[in-house]
Amino acid sequence: MAPIQVKKICCIGAGYVGGPTCAVIPHIQVTIVDLNQQRIDAWNSDELPIYEPGLDEVVKAARGKNLFFSTDVDKGIEEADLIFVSVNTPTKKSGIGAGFAADLKFLQLATRRIAEVAKSSKIVVEKSTVPCRTADAMRTILEANSKPGCHFDILSNPEFLAEGTAIEDLFAPDRVLIGSLQTQQGKDACEALTQVYANWVPRDRILTVGLWSSELSKLAANAMLAQRISSVNALSAICEATGANIDEVAYAVGKDTRMGSKFLKASVGFGGSCFQKDILNLVYLSESLHLPEVAKYWRAVVEMNEYQKSRFANKVVDTLFNTITGKKIAILGWAFKKDTGDTRESPAITLANHFLTEKARINIYDPQVSKDQIWLDLTDYGDIPAEPIKPHVTISQTVEEACHNAEAIVVCTEWDEFKTLDWQKIYDDCPRPAFVFDGRLILDRKALTEIGFKVTSIGTGDRL
Ligand code: UDX
Ligand code: ADP
Repeated sequence: MAPIQVKKICCIGAGYVGGPTCAVIPHIQVTIVDLNQQRIDAWNSDELPIYEPGLDEVVKAARGKNLFFSTDVDKGIEEADLIFVSVNTPTKKSGIGAGFAADLKFLQLATRRIAEVAKSSKIVVEKSTVPCRTADAMRTILEANSKPGCHFDILSNPEFLAEGTAIEDLFAPDRVLIGSLQTQQGKDACEALTQVYANWVPRDRILTVGLWSSELSKLAANAMLAQRISSVNALSAICEATGANIDEVAYAVGKDTRMGSKFLKASVGFGGSCFQKDILNLVYLSESLHLPEVAKYWRAVVEMNEYQKSRFANKVVDTLFNTITGKKIAILGWAFKKDTGDTRESPAITLANHFLTEKARINIYDPQVSKDQIWLDLTDYGDIPAEPIKPHVTISQTVEEACHNAEAIVVCTEWDEFKTLDWQKIYDDCPRPAFVFDGRLILDRKALTEIGFKVTSIGTGDRL
């Protein structure tokens, strides 16, 4: 049989994953569809709905040529030979597995839609991060609802891009992973997707494995990356208590080629839409498989992250003489990392809530996050009433405005611009003593101390 050649691709879900991933595909016609009209309008405008370095250029070069954005989900499905499913899979808020398991509602709705609309055979690619064996569930839904003559092949193709470097990651990925059933038909579908990637990714970087290995690999990669951060953050607490310096320790450890130097930066805690969600997924999976020790092991990675956030928040309170009631605290950075406007699971949200509980007045600045988004985060998307906290929250347009008269300045995101601020000017505008808390280890501690700031940095102790 001739290999299947993919001529048209549809991607369901125009979010942080679907948008950038499909924007880099050359030659082949790709239509990204989403039910959210506002999001699609933004993708079709000059103001893209997500901030990602390099994304604007890539989208503008391809849009209207081989890249299209539309709310016509059905047409997108009908026309495509290959469909990426890239919808959101948040952690369940209620019911069985609440707080741990992934909510697959959106994924299942999209799958049902494919089955209802498709008039010809399709390759359906699971791209959203999902629990193991989701592909199997998708296959069952598709087979139970398909029309005669319509055959569906399911592939797992998890995305490993990191926000902030998505475009670099997509153009030159460490690897592309494709999981398929090991039947001839499964392998043919796998080869069809391999050929799509082979347009720009060297063949030896395209790994083909079984369906379930692929699904588990994605959870494993994120869990092991997060575990590394929790390990370094656990060590940062020891450094603070003993006078060692976590950057020096991480540098020494990372020089071991077995270890490598990346992903060893201590921080106020990891955030983002994936790490916590995927680990909790792994915990849930382990428990479902009656492996409580395994579940406990992975759960500890998330617990350490929670501890790091509250440890840092408590340090602010302790340092400000055990009370921050009525005090003004500047929060620099709201996104979960630099070079993104994404705030999902951002440690800044936890810190802000902690400071508000202590009745502080907070003033937030972030170069990419909108005021509306900050309010959505502070009110947990409307679950917490805004009125009682409104008098305690200000959102500023500049760092200087946020820091004006602040008794403490807390760096939550490692934005580059925070490194080159006129700290003398900021100091002159603060009451004494002026405190800075560096939750990202990006500031020049010595220079700030010389100006007169009292500086507290994660993983840096004063003893010894
Ligand atoms: C992550 C994975 O890296 C990516 O492969 C996967 O596809 C999605 O999840 P992302 O969440 O976008 O990507 O960003 P990442 O760079 O991994 O950072 C996650 C969090 O860890 C951020 O809050 C970041 O600030 C924090 N982090 C990262 C540290 O605290 N220290 C580090 O050394 C690295
Ligand atoms: P991610 O970070 O995984 O890309 P996002 O939440 O940014 O997640 O994006 C997921 C997108 O999927 C959202 O824009 C949402 O509107 C869209 N979506 C969810 N369900 C469907 C569906 N059944 N059909 C089309 N789009 C959907």
